[in-house]
Amino acid sequence: MIIAANLKTNLTRKQTEIYVNELEDYVSKHTISQEVLVFPAASSLNPHAGKVIIGAQNAYATHNGAFTGEIGLDHLEEFSIKTILIGHSERRHVLGETQEALVKKFNFYKDLGFKIVYCVGEPLEMREAGKETMMEYISSQYEGIDTSYENLIIAYEPVWAIGTGLIPTLENIEEIHTDLKEKSIAPLLYGGSVKVTNAKEVLALRNVDGILVGSAALYSEHFCSMIQYAEDLN
Ligand code: 13P
Repeated sequence: MIIAANLKTNLTRKQTEIYVNELEDYVSKHTISQEVLVFPAASSLNPHAGKVIIGAQNAYATHNGAFTGEIGLDHLEEFSIKTILIGHSERRHVLGETQEALVKKFNFYKDLGFKIVYCVGEPLEMREAGKETMMEYISSQYEGIDTSYENLIIAYEPVWAIGTGLIPTLENIEEIHTDLKEKSIAPLLYGGSVKVTNAKEVLALRNVDGILVGSAALYSEHFCSMIQYAEDLN
């Protein structure tokens, strides 16, 4: 399974280094065979050798250039980063990234062979509009994306479940994941208010291949517990 931590705009470089080392210690001491990914803030990237894979939360579709506030491939290469998160709801809905811009970014990093964690998920009004409308909305987030890309991982993250403590029912997660698996056979993660208290049940669901965790992953011991759940389930 794939257990991923999106650290968002948290943890400084120093804190991230300590955090990643704690995970690395856990993973090696407990001979964890799961894939563990960590997405630190851009200024907290560091070179890292070990089992834990470090990815970028974002980068522009460029090697370098005049894109104020963005980082590009050159900056990722400095730290040997070959994994990137694309389409996170905060980038779509807070920072206004369009599907067109995401597709451009996806293709740029795909052509470079990056492991891409591509996020999809509906806002509350789409969920409330009924299943058909909701699935149409999620389908539109697959437009232009090469769903058969070999290094693709998809994360289903309902926007209303992110950082709210709300989570769909287990039956609902399984149902949506089963539908989404028809669009792509890529590993499919669930994200949105995953905590130590619900991770085990979510990981045990059919068609859930892992989790993408935000706030609860900021505590390394909590995140390690979730890694252990996945290991035990395997
Ligand atoms: P929370 O786990 O804080 O709800 O965030 C989920 C998320 O956005 C992971 O990418």
